[in-house]
Amino acid sequence: MKTLVTSALPYVNNVPHLGNLMCVISADVYTRFLRLKNQEVISVLGTDEHGTTTETKAIEEGLTPKEVCDKYYKIHKEIYDWFECEFDCFGRTSSKENAEITLDIFNKLHKNGYITEGIIEQLYCEKDKRFLADRFVEGTCPKCSYENARGDQCENCGSLLNATELVNPKCKICKSKPIVKQSNHLFIDLPKLEPELKTWISSVESKWSDNARTLTHAWFKEGLKQRCITRDLKWGIQVPLKGFENKVFYSWFDAPIGYIGITKECRKDWKDYWLNPKEIKLVQFMGKDNIPFHTILFPAFLIGTKDNYTLMREISVNEFLNYENGQFSKSRNLGVFGDDAKSTGISADVFRYYLMINRPEKQDTEFLWSDFQKKNNTELVANLGNLVNRTLSFLNRFYDSTIPDIDLNAKDEEFLAEVKKLETKISELADSISIKEALKEIMRIATIGNRYLQENEPWKNPDEKRKSTCLNVLANVVKDLSILIFPYMPGVSARMQMQLNIGQKKWDDLGNLSIKKNHKINTAEILFRKIEDEEITSLQKEFSGKKKENFADVDLKTAKIISVDDHPNAESLYVLKVECNGERQLVAGLKKYYTKEELLGKNIVIVANLKP
Ligand code: 2FM
Ligand code: ZN
Repeated sequence: MKTLVTSALPYVNNVPHLGNLMCVISADVYTRFLRLKNQEVISVLGTDEHGTTTETKAIEEGLTPKEVCDKYYKIHKEIYDWFECEFDCFGRTSSKENAEITLDIFNKLHKNGYITEGIIEQLYCEKDKRFLADRFVEGTCPKCSYENARGDQCENCGSLLNATELVNPKCKICKSKPIVKQSNHLFIDLPKLEPELKTWISSVESKWSDNARTLTHAWFKEGLKQRCITRDLKWGIQVPLKGFENKVFYSWFDAPIGYIGITKECRKDWKDYWLNPKEIKLVQFMGKDNIPFHTILFPAFLIGTKDNYTLMREISVNEFLNYENGQFSKSRNLGVFGDDAKSTGISADVFRYYLMINRPEKQDTEFLWSDFQKKNNTELVANLGNLVNRTLSFLNRFYDSTIPDIDLNAKDEEFLAEVKKLETKISELADSISIKEALKEIMRIATIGNRYLQENEPWKNPDEKRKSTCLNVLANVVKDLSILIFPYMPGVSARMQMQLNIGQKKWDDLGNLSIKKNHKINTAEILFRKIEDEEITSLQKEFSGKKKENFADVDLKTAKIISVDDHPNAESLYVLKVECNGERQLVAGLKKYYTKEELLGKNIVIVANLKP
């Protein structure tokens, strides 16, 4: 059985924050586990590019939707690369492959009688000649009279709104008053697909996370409804029916189909994965807001084709990660976003560790810098790092980096059995996608390793046999840890194996004493560094919502040079006096380029708000 892993396709139009990265990294960890176990697996990720949000961003940035997608696709890719997320396919929902598959699926749904037509009342801007998606409308909230309510929600009182309910609605693009106009749309007939959906769900749901099962049942309880799958937009996949020429598919129609499109974009053998339900286990990762799209809608699209599509078997849904007891917000510079993680000076591995040990599996969790510092210093530095570094340094020091002889006693056997037991448990947890729990058990191995080291005290133990056995055993446990930690911290794993002077190991190399007497190791090097209080305080401040300085904050003014003198103690500098709303003095390295005469009387541009 091969596994196909997908991670929810992030919206292309913004930079993902650490909360968004949760599901991408989880999928990567799971995929790496399977690879370690020599299982065949491919993983699929990419950007979700169609829809209003992209059109809005394009207007904001003065770009075309296509340009927005090209720009942000690259940003996304760089971020996932930095976080060491390796996907076999990283594509885009706006590809021609995705359009082909989306149209094929639609045509079959249509032919099979699962598409209905209906009329929707929507706001229409006669000036821009377009129907206005909710986010393109603003007006007065009918509930609280707040004047700048959005078409989908009032930010003041929080009410969810329909754009047609707004008092005094205005088109966000041209500010004119839209009219209510009827528009014909296409719907997927979920009630008609209900029996088949239910049969499929009952065959797989035992392996779903609780939140996925609960929400899906709630949808059925409320009764499935016709769901609109088209939109009056330009940026998207065009609907191929007469009378629908100006419409595109709703992005939630072609986004999940995008998993297939992306696979096709990067692999000739895509059908072996997507049209092969007997041999493929499809495992999907996502955040909790995506559940019904994956447990009801996407399967309905596939089932309705009557083709033999691979349907999801396992689903891993994470709850949300909050930032310092609030929400991440790019516009308010609140929280760490993918593109600024690099600048923190903290490695991707440490971020990965913190996110996974803090993975919101059952309830929302918090990203707290104080907790980040604590976990780094106590779990990575003082537990895992300490065990690895002390073991290898003692081997460097006492045995000239050569693994010494081993002679196990009952206590050693007991310790090794305990390690093995934990490894079996970790394997089961990884298989059931309990990523956080598995990591906790891995760290437990480091904890008992440190205890074993402490009990045997090889640095002062007069009994040579005890000393050598303990270090031989621990070298092997460090080898095991380097394997187990690989899915979470691939960089750290590689460094551990480099220091041990062994090649990349697999799951089968666990639980044995394969590092034998006379093997030469390399010099021990520190794996993790301590994070100090000042550093954390400064990171906390940097991502606290305080506006960062950017180009717009540079205050440029014109000024007239009224005198030029040599700097008394610097050869290349002039001291300039300029007139700029009063007199100011500047020091400038212009001597190499201009004579005094050339400068005198000139109008120049100065940065007026540099600190003295
Ligand atoms: O919620 C989101 O970020 C969506 N872009 C997820 C789409 S998942 C898949 F269907 F593409
Ligand atoms: Zn309101």
